[in-house]
This record gives sequence, structure tokens and C-alpha cells, in this order.
Amino acid sequence: MQDQPYRLAVSNQKGGVGKSTVALNTAGALADRGNGVLLVDLDPQGYLTSGAGLDECYTEQPPSLYDALKDPSQIDVNDLVIDHPEFDVLPANIDMFNLEQELVSMMQGRKRLKTLLDGVTGYDFIVVDCPPSLGLLTDNALLACENLLIPAEAEDTSIRALDLLFKQVDTLEANFEDVTISEQAIVVSNVDYPLDGEQKSMLEWFEENFSEYIPVFEVRNRAAIKRAWNNGGSIFGSDEECDMEDELTQLAAHFESEARGEPE
Ligand SMILES: Nc1ncnc2c1ncn2[C@@H]1O[C@H](COP(=O)(O)OP(=O)(O)O)[C@@H](O)[C@H]1O
Ligand SMILES: [Mg+2]
Repeated sequence: MQDQPYRLAVSNQKGGVGKSTVALNTAGALADRGNGVLLVDLDPQGYLTSGAGLDECYTEQPPSLYDALKDPSQIDVNDLVIDHPEFDVLPANIDMFNLEQELVSMMQGRKRLKTLLDGVTGYDFIVVDCPPSLGLLTDNALLACENLLIPAEAEDTSIRALDLLFKQVDTLEANFEDVTISEQAIVVSNVDYPLDGEQKSMLEWFEENFSEYIPVFEVRNRAAIKRAWNNGGSIFGSDEECDMEDELTQLAAHFESEARGEPE
């Protein structure tokens, strides 16, 4: 096990593109391959916390991730981590709705999560699910992780969404000299077969524009993925077979070699 976990932000400011689903199942795939994984829900809406079956944590009294991000020196983040059958979880809390605004006036308001996660050891991977916005919480995830997993739908709207995300990455890199944020993989998510014309041309667009320098994965729309979510876990923690396990396992293997610094 490495001293510093490999950290990964799952980000795309567009809502409903599969971020939380991809985050949960990527964490499940990494854990299934024997890695120690911490899954962090940075979305104030707490959907991933629900997907991990931890709804009660979302409305728990302080201290929560909200308090830890507000005052990293006062709270040991390890005390907030919850056991899950597949991995550990740092749940979101309803108090986090105030955070985006409060971070604006805080010193180092974009580096809070980095400060917190610098104190978290004992894992191979930390996977951070981002909110559907390009605000300060997403900036926190990008600066803390410096590695980006981008879920995107096979829809025309993804072209602009990715353009804006990459611009935000450039802005952060320009403002923080010590930071290099690497796009590590794209997951075209929730792809629905048979493909219509838009999905087909967008799958080609992802291949043409990205596959030369980062791998493009495809996770199809599967009721089994939804059922596993409703049962509080990933498809790897479920008894039900799902034909998307192979693709997610390859995604996990890709991050393992990135974490080892090995070219593929
Ligand atoms: N591969 C998939 N198979 C089935 N349903 C999916 C899949 N990916 C996403 N969904 C569904 O699509 C919706 C949006 O996904 P979600 O992960 O919550 O997106 P985001 O986090 O980007 O808002 C959810 O209802 C989720 O269950
Ligand atoms: Mg989400």
C-alpha cells in the first residue's frame, strides 16, 4: 500500500450525466480488485451518500464533512469515515448546502479538501464525487485530486460541457502554479442500445477527440446498475451478474497502472 492514496475526482458540471453512478461503481471495481478505497461525496445534494445506503448520515448532527471542510484543523476527518461492505465512505451532509457560498470568503477556500485529504492515509484510492456545478466545491475536488475521471453522456450537449470543464481546469492551473490536473479517463455513461443517430455520432466524437491520449470507456444503461444503487452499493457488491463489470474492471486496472506510474 502506498503512503499517499491516488486521488481521483469524478467531475462534469452537467447534472444527470452519471457522475455518482460512475463514482460508486469505479470505487466498487477498485475495491473488488483488492484495493482499499475511500469514496467521498462532495455533492451537497448527497445522492451518492444515498446510493451507498447511508441516508441517515446525510441528516446526521455535526460534526460532518461540512464542519471538516470549514475548519480542517479542528476535526480529524478519519473520525467521519463510515464503513461500507465494499469500501469506506465520507458521506455528504445537508449542512453542505451553505458551503459553496461560505468558501468564497475563506482563506484558501479552494484548498480545503486538499488539506483534509492530505491527512488521510491507509487507502490505495480516494474517489471524490463532484457536485453538478463549476463552483468552489468542484475546484476543491480538482485541486485535491489533480486526476480527473469524466463521465459524459453520448449527447451533443457533452461537447460544450467538456469544453467548459477543460477551461476550468486551465484556469485553476493558471491560478495555482504548483498544480497540474490530468484528465485520466472518459466514461461515456448510460449509453442506451440500440444506438440512435446522436449517440452513434457522439461515440465517434469521443473516440476521435480523446482516445489518442486518454482511454474512453463505455458504460451502458443497465437495470442491474440501478438495482445495485437502490440496494446501497455497486454492481461488484451485488449478487446479480452485470455485463458492465468487465468495462469497469478495465477502468479500475487503468487507474492502478496510473497510480503505479506505469505507462500502459
Ligand atoms: N449505466 C447506467 N444504467 C442505468 N442507470 C444509470 C446509469 N448511469 C446513470 N444512470 C441513472 O441516471 C441518472 C443520473 O445519474 P447520476 O449518476 O445520478 O448522475 P450525476 O451524478 O451526474 O447527476 C440516475 O437516475 C442514475 O440511476
Ligand atoms: Mg451526482
